[in-house]
Amino acid sequence: MNCVTRAKSAVAWVFCIACICYGVNGQSALKAYCFEFTWLGPTFTNETIVNNATCEEIPNSPSVCQDPLVYTYDGSPPNLTNMWVDSELRTRTTCELSKGEVCAKWTFEYNNFLENVTYLCTKVTVDSKWPMTSGCKVQNRGGRRIEVCACETQPGTSGSLVFPCNAGPPSLHQAAPLLLLAVVGVLTLLTR
Ligand SMILES: *[C@@H]1O[C@H](CO)[C@@H](O)[C@H](O)[C@H]1NC(C)=O
Ligand SMILES: *[C@@H]1O[C@H](CO)[C@@H](O)[C@H](O)[C@H]1NC(C)=O
Ligand SMILES: *[C@@H]1O[C@H](CO)[C@@H](O)[C@H](O)[C@H]1NC(C)=O
Ligand SMILES: *[C@@H]1O[C@H](CO)[C@@H](O)[C@H](O)[C@H]1NC(C)=O
Repeated sequence: MNCVTRAKSAVAWVFCIACICYGVNGQSALKAYCFEFTWLGPTFTNETIVNNATCEEIPNSPSVCQDPLVYTYDGSPPNLTNMWVDSELRTRTTCELSKGEVCAKWTFEYNNFLENVTYLCTKVTVDSKWPMTSGCKVQNRGGRRIEVCACETQPGTSGSLVFPCNAGPPSLHQAAPLLLLAVVGVLTLLTR
């Protein structure tokens, strides 16, 4: 290895380490993130026209919705690993977890089919009484199943960004009675 390559690789190393420790676009390995977006469900594909739509533009204003709105080419749930690996997508579809908040995931199902899923940083209150910080609750209503899960991503210690805990397919297993969920969210946008 000559001097120039060595110098270049030293620079590359420093750059890589900087990327790893500070992430890109201002995300830091020392902080905790959650996914934050709504996947519109299997009825939305690349054939659907959803030009830069936002939650506010959805008919009947869904009670749980978080911009950006995301859909996929074939209507399957988005691959969160791929979204996380792509730094631009990652910054658009994640939020920084603040104290007192959790990474939440709302899953709507009808007759065992996924209808849509919303991910966000928020506070979840059970029965208007208790803060929910972990686990899942399910509400069944007329063939419809609504599941809410909460978790807290632990800030990184290893020097790399920590994959948000509210990822993963819906668990839809535990059943517990439930009335009630508050959502706090802000709105922006993205398509696809
Ligand atoms: C949607 O994606 C499919 C491939 O999954 C492609 O064949 C089709 O042309 C696309 N349609 C549009 C409108 O982009
Ligand atoms: C969506 O929004 C972006 C940025 O606001 C804009 O550049 C783009 O043209 C918009 N696309 C459509 C189809 O309206
Ligand atoms: C998700 O599905 C539920 C049940 O069909 C519906 O009421 C709600 O409007 C949908 N949310 C979004 C963001 O489309
Ligand atoms: C998501 O994509 C990654 C890499 O492209 C792949 O290894 C993984 O199996 C995919 N996950 C799902 C649930 O399809």
